[in-house]
Amino acid sequence: MTEAISLSGAAASRGGAPVWSGVDLGIARGEFVAVLGPNGAGKSTFLDVALGLLPLSAGGVSVLGATPRAARARIGYLPQRRSFDASTRVRGVDVVRLGLDGARWGLPLPAALSGSARAARAKVAEVVELVGASAYAERPIGSLSGGEQQRLLIGQALVRDPEMLLLDEPLDSLDLPNQAAVAALVQRICRTQGVTVVLVAHDVNPILGYLDRVVYFAGGHGVEGPPREVIRADVLSELYGSPIEVVETRSGRLIVVGTPDAGGHSGDCGGHDHAADERQAERPVAEREPAG
Ligand SMILES: Nc1ncnc2c1ncn2[C@@H]1O[C@H](COP(=O)(O)OP(=O)(O)OP(=O)(O)O)[C@@H](O)[C@H]1O
Ligand SMILES: [Mg+2]
Repeated sequence: MTEAISLSGAAASRGGAPVWSGVDLGIARGEFVAVLGPNGAGKSTFLDVALGLLPLSAGGVSVLGATPRAARARIGYLPQRRSFDASTRVRGVDVVRLGLDGARWGLPLPAALSGSARAARAKVAEVVELVGASAYAERPIGSLSGGEQQRLLIGQALVRDPEMLLLDEPLDSLDLPNQAAVAALVQRICRTQGVTVVLVAHDVNPILGYLDRVVYFAGGHGVEGPPREVIRADVLSELYGSPIEVVETRSGRLIVVGTPDAGGHSGDCGGHDHAADERQAERPVAEREPAG
């Protein structure tokens, strides 16, 4: 069976500057994979490469057994940082429908689908049900909570029955329970529909229990493997090129300590984002944590 995404000796540059290089990885079909790493490490760049939006500067890439461009129509993509103004009156079902029509957000619907309007409506209803949004899909998207909006946006990425979903920080701005709920939803889609899911995340902990594999970008390189084989002091220290500690709490949460860019901004690394929450929730363990 061909892999969903494979990179060999891959390097990517933006604006003439290298982002990462020497990356070898293979994501199997049907896996649920998180892409982790600090800001600017090249996580979105990895998705751009997989989508055929950015050619590699060296090495090879194959997506669903084809070139990224050829595979593009078989991929559902949710870009980073979308939000709807509270005054947005477009309904949730219309947001899902936009994915079917192929119209980018904000562009008018083409009339082409009018002939199969009934089929389109049925497909949208099916996906709305799948993402658990039936109760509020008729409401204006701007009036929905972040978690509700996110479910509908995942529905938009799913409505063409893609073989693979690329989701760029879909958990961003969700509270911890909603991060876990959306991760559970995505895992269910992955398992029941056989869709490969590649999800860029800031904090691995809310999704740790659902993942098959992680890809971790830092220090101009990338590594992949099962979560606990990658989020390890030795592996991350080599990747960052400086000493990194990984603390595992009693509940199995992973906290990465000592990343070079850990100064002011929190959440710049898998496991970092909610270190403060961890300290609240896990006092006895937190007391043993080195200061980050
Ligand atoms: N269009 C562009 N032109 C030039 N440089 C870019 C462009 N897009 C991204 N970059 C740079 O490439 C690097 C990787 O960016 P990328 O968006 O892939 O990072 P990221 O890991 O997704 O970060 P974040 O966590 O902030 O989303 C960054 O240094 C960024 O400034
Ligand atoms: Mg990004």
